[in-house]
Amino acid sequence: MTTTSPALDPEALTTTTLVHPATAEAEWWRSAVIYQVYPRSFADSDGDGLGDLPGITARLGHLTRLGVDALWLSPFYTSPQRDAGYDVADYRSVDPRFGTLADADALIEKAHRLGLRVIVDLVPNHTSSEHAWFQAALAAAPGSPERARYVFRDGKGPDGEQPPTNWRSVFGGPAWSRVTEADGRPGQWYLHLFDATQPDLNWENDEVRAELESVLRFWLDRGVDGFRVDVAHGLVKDQSFPDWGHRTDMVSGDDEDDAGHDPGPSPYWDQPGVHDIYRRWHQVLAGYDGDRCLVAEAWADTPEKIAAYTRPDEMQQAFNFDYLTTPWDATRLREAITDGLTASDAVGAPCTWVMSNHDVVRASSRLGLPETGKGPNGIGADDPQPDAELGLRRARAAALLMLALPGSAYLYQGEELGLPEHTTLPDEVREDPAFFRTGAAEKGRDGCRVPLPWEADAPAFGFSPTGATWLPQPADWGGFAVDAQKGVPGSTYETYRTALRLRRDFRLGTGSLAWVDGLPDCTAERVLAFTNRELLVLANLGAEAVALRDVEVLHASGPLGGGLDGEVLVPHDTTVWARLRRDDAERD
Ligand code: NOJ
Repeated sequence: MTTTSPALDPEALTTTTLVHPATAEAEWWRSAVIYQVYPRSFADSDGDGLGDLPGITARLGHLTRLGVDALWLSPFYTSPQRDAGYDVADYRSVDPRFGTLADADALIEKAHRLGLRVIVDLVPNHTSSEHAWFQAALAAAPGSPERARYVFRDGKGPDGEQPPTNWRSVFGGPAWSRVTEADGRPGQWYLHLFDATQPDLNWENDEVRAELESVLRFWLDRGVDGFRVDVAHGLVKDQSFPDWGHRTDMVSGDDEDDAGHDPGPSPYWDQPGVHDIYRRWHQVLAGYDGDRCLVAEAWADTPEKIAAYTRPDEMQQAFNFDYLTTPWDATRLREAITDGLTASDAVGAPCTWVMSNHDVVRASSRLGLPETGKGPNGIGADDPQPDAELGLRRARAAALLMLALPGSAYLYQGEELGLPEHTTLPDEVREDPAFFRTGAAEKGRDGCRVPLPWEADAPAFGFSPTGATWLPQPADWGGFAVDAQKGVPGSTYETYRTALRLRRDFRLGTGSLAWVDGLPDCTAERVLAFTNRELLVLANLGAEAVALRDVEVLHASGPLGGGLDGEVLVPHDTTVWARLRRDDAERD
């Protein structure tokens, strides 16, 4: 929708263009700020260097003090950890490294007591190769019901020595691996769109569908409020298995052939059949009280195709990765925001904003690189290093931009501390399968997964009682620790806290968005300016400061300057939240 909003003072603001009207205060997930907890790296209670569920439970107060509404837990299920838990061997148990089912129950119970909702990760595209089903499939013969739960095929060539198709793994290398049959001879091939230890389930199989539904119920019965659905766009494969030899980029979801050409439609991403699965899951959730929700981790070509996952009878949210991968550029961000809101409004869903997660270079480092878009697939000591100061400044400005947008927003643990990527991890400590499967051409995602600093002067910065950490923390992280920022005006942590409080007070999550054009000095190439309810939000992405008049500043991502006649100077890479001084504006 694009109309001129009548509610705003045209003299003060010149023109406004409404792209999203305010919505009703309805289900919690429409406007929630949801904090992603990465269990390996949040807090370690037993001192083994790996985070765990009791560690998370003990630190839930951090989330309530910050002012978020919910947490999403990345996988903590029994797993050989070949892909940091996204290789699930048993969907109904907790990996002993992370605790027990009783610990999960205690976490959910305490979170609820504190007023926090809990979303858990569901990994339905693939299991671990150590899952009992896959072990049974390996032991069984070609054509057996055990093999039918996965995607087994005979190879091509006289002895079946070539893979069934030329599909490539997202982590690099081929997407098929060959098994050895019971008689010791080379046998069939199985599909794995990710690591070879992550065999794809066969979603044409009714037993697979029934099993994952039962897993949903298992966790819903334990009280979880929703699921983040891993690789939601990948479950259904084109059953004609055509060749399609393109590698999908882990970070952007873009598909490219080696010459950089757009390869055309993929035979395994975003197939129409996936939507039937989510319609069914919608029904399962609807059988429970309390507005449970599903959030899609889905990659598709257009905002409309992403929004299709959130039609009224499917999921409730889908991450807006288009926003995450958009460069720090006012024109392009405005377009991404407008397109995201328009597409989600068309299906009556909230737009779900996200800047960071456990798969991408942290925002405060990404935004300090010369190319600010999706960022590289990891950074190593020999790569160009980000400008840390500029990156942090922009990340804070980007946070205030995102948290002022109507819809729901996800924060990745450490984002509220301005934590940078670890950009100099030694290769020997890396664990990401993408590093190994690309022959180290990609550094991978370990740099954004480093354990959190809680206390500046404690061993492991308070992450673990023994000082052990599964990945080393940079020696200079003390200044990012929670206790070094708490109560310090202007710290990144306090800046997030204030933003979250104001977001709630002003009901920005269910608010409106109208672009404001024509403010003096504020060209659309340099400045994003919009209103949400009675708030004026201005993000200055240009190189020069811009002056604002007749406003009462409520919050800013960094220090502001003062000009003549009460002008407020907004420096480069800074966002302000302000209220119009309507009386003054009218008097002028
Ligand atoms: C997306 C997850 O976010 C990522 O961490 C994982 O490696 C892949 N899906 C495969 O499960």
